[in-house]
Amino acid sequence: MAFSIRTRLTFWYTALLTVSLILFAATFSYTLSKIFMSRIDRQVGSIANMMVHTVMNPRGEILLPADFEIILERFFGVRTAGSYIQVIDQHGNILGRSSNLSGANLPISPETYANAVNKATTFEVVPRFGSYSMRMVTKPIVFKEKGLVAIVQVGTSLEFMEEIFNSLIYIFTIGIGVAVLVAAAVGTFLARKALHPVAELTSAARRIEAESLNERIDIATPNDEIGMLSTTINEMIERLEKSFSQIKQFTADASHELKTPLTIMKGEVEIALRAKDDPEYLRETLESSLEEIDRMSDIVNNLLDLTKIEAERKATPTVPVRVDKVLTERFDAIKRVAAEKGVELVMESNSAALTVSGESVRIGQLLSNLIDNAVKYTPGGGKVSVSSASEDSCAVIRVKDTGVGIDKEDMPFIFDRFFRVDKARTGGVGGAGLGLSICSEIAESLKGEITLDSAIGVGSTFTLRLPLCDATA
Ligand SMILES: Nc1ncnc2c1ncn2[C@@H]1O[C@H](COP(=O)(O)OP(=O)(O)O)[C@@H](O)[C@H]1O
Ligand SMILES: [Mg+2]
Repeated sequence: MAFSIRTRLTFWYTALLTVSLILFAATFSYTLSKIFMSRIDRQVGSIANMMVHTVMNPRGEILLPADFEIILERFFGVRTAGSYIQVIDQHGNILGRSSNLSGANLPISPETYANAVNKATTFEVVPRFGSYSMRMVTKPIVFKEKGLVAIVQVGTSLEFMEEIFNSLIYIFTIGIGVAVLVAAAVGTFLARKALHPVAELTSAARRIEAESLNERIDIATPNDEIGMLSTTINEMIERLEKSFSQIKQFTADASHELKTPLTIMKGEVEIALRAKDDPEYLRETLESSLEEIDRMSDIVNNLLDLTKIEAERKATPTVPVRVDKVLTERFDAIKRVAAEKGVELVMESNSAALTVSGESVRIGQLLSNLIDNAVKYTPGGGKVSVSSASEDSCAVIRVKDTGVGIDKEDMPFIFDRFFRVDKARTGGVGGAGLGLSICSEIAESLKGEITLDSAIGVGSTFTLRLPLCDATA
């Protein structure tokens, strides 16, 4: 099950706080008990030491004092309740004990007794001696020749300490409980407050759909994390909006371009059907229809190319391509068309061994389109010159014409799909306006660029730059 960030934040925050508080309480109590114990041990220890010297005379004989209470009083003050002394002989028989034990014995476990026999002192907690636990020291009395002569036990009730620890547990339990509850409540509130803008952002982003891509998310605080996220989302919506409108425009343009030849064909075919007895007319109609079909298939092919170039960029491995060779090929192919039109087509210079990495068919298509345009938009008697050179580790190909030129206003759109300069100015020639967009698409896929310099009535120069690659690669 997935919890909200808010719930998770609150949970971890509260859990961490609880663990820290419990750790603190545990460490505190442990340290305190250690301090208490060492004090108590020092106290019972020194009474036991003193007893050793009190109950044994220099010959190693045990002589019990009449009243142990006096000794206890001297150490613990007037109140001797809860503090006990007991002396037993080396066999475990009780020799004497403080009267406040009122008949009960201080216990001696087999291990403790064994310790004493081995002349070792034992400190231990005797649980539930009376109503409380008791700290007890068991100390052997050893005389040189005789060895173990007696055992002294001194115990003191842990009533005081137990009471303190009971209160501590009580205080800690209540305190930690309350602190955790408060922390959880405050944590929930803070998390909700901190994440509120995210909730707003979510609903704002949800409101924006394909139909309302012009909307933007309001940004209250542009510099914090949420503000930056909102800005990023807004930028993304902007890009979406742009590509949506591009797609719409493209679909409209493409449909329009395909519709025109279809309309012409339909009209011609309809008339031809009525004039079925005139074979000459029928033939003319078919020829004209074929032209329109060619035109349509050109457009469709170009459109397919446009989509393919993008896909190819990722899928097709690039290979070294000799641009100068491709240029010569393409140049030669267009020569005849130029000659027919009366346009002088010259290769000014062709630098040898220009190698770029790419795909030769696409590079050829690019060069053809540029030279083709130059010839197409240059009236008879004009000149188109082509050159290639290597500049700044780029292959630079220039196609210069003395043609109609391009207006400054049209230049920014010249590489757009379906863009054509007004037909009246270009003399009615020209295709669907996809050629240059294919060129720029190919150049871009090769990490190159095409620049344009043109003046109306003077001519245009298209410059293609492609990064050179190592010829040996
Ligand atoms: N060398 C040039 N001289 C003048 N105008 C040009 C030249 N090349 C392209 N253009 C203009 O740019 C438009 C777009 O070119 P392009 O994309 O190749 O389409 P088209 O199919 O019309 O050739 C052309 O219609 C033409 O008006
Ligand atoms: Mg063209």
